Amino acid sequence: MPDKKPAAFGSVVNPKPPLIVSCRGKDGRNNALVVVYACNCSYDPPMVMVGIVPSRYSYGLIKETGIFVVNLVPESMREAFDYLGTHSGRDEDKLAWLGLRLGEGVKVKAPVLLDCPVSIECSVVDSIRTGSHEMFVGRIEYVHADEGLVGTDGKIDWPGIEYLRLR
Ligand SMILES: Cc1cc2nc3c(=O)[nH]c(=O)nc-3n(C[C@H](O)[C@H](O)[C@H](O)COP(=O)(O)O)c2cc1C
Repeated sequence: MPDKKPAAFGSVVNPKPPLIVSCRGKDGRNNALVVVYACNCSYDPPMVMVGIVPSRYSYGLIKETGIFVVNLVPESMREAFDYLGTHSGRDEDKLAWLGLRLGEGVKVKAPVLLDCPVSIECSVVDSIRTGSHEMFVGRIEYVHADEGLVGTDGKIDWPGIEYLRLR
């Protein structure tokens, strides 16, 4: 093919969504990690899918509770995003260290990151071990969005979100 050459296979669907997935262990401890392997996977019923590597501390928490929250990440949260993506909740309470503002889920027992413009409460309905990741299929139980982003029809003004840009 003219003007084309073979390229590396890894993580090829781009741009990737900048997400923080928050969760809570059965012992009540909150945690969160950065996830970019994620997508919408059903319109009706509304579902999303997040890919988590089994070695992550969060993996065990989500396995045991079947609950997670997907938080969309704005540029203003770059420092927290970098930290949550490079440190493990196995060693420390990352959310407390970062001093992030937390709310309580309405439908699920997990923390909602209040400084994220949109947070999506999910319960696990299925999971698929694909290879390096396990894809958790989450039924959407509740969506929180900043007041200024929600129209009278309840729809979210997606272009109004200044997403963090992955480097
Ligand atoms: C840009 C970026 C993207 C990442 N994407 C994922 C991902 O999609 N799935 C995953 O399991 N880990 C991903 N990680 C790694 C985890 O966020 C990281 O290992 C984290 O420290 C795990 O935290 P935990 O052990 O507290 O669960 C990503 C990290 C970064 C910096």
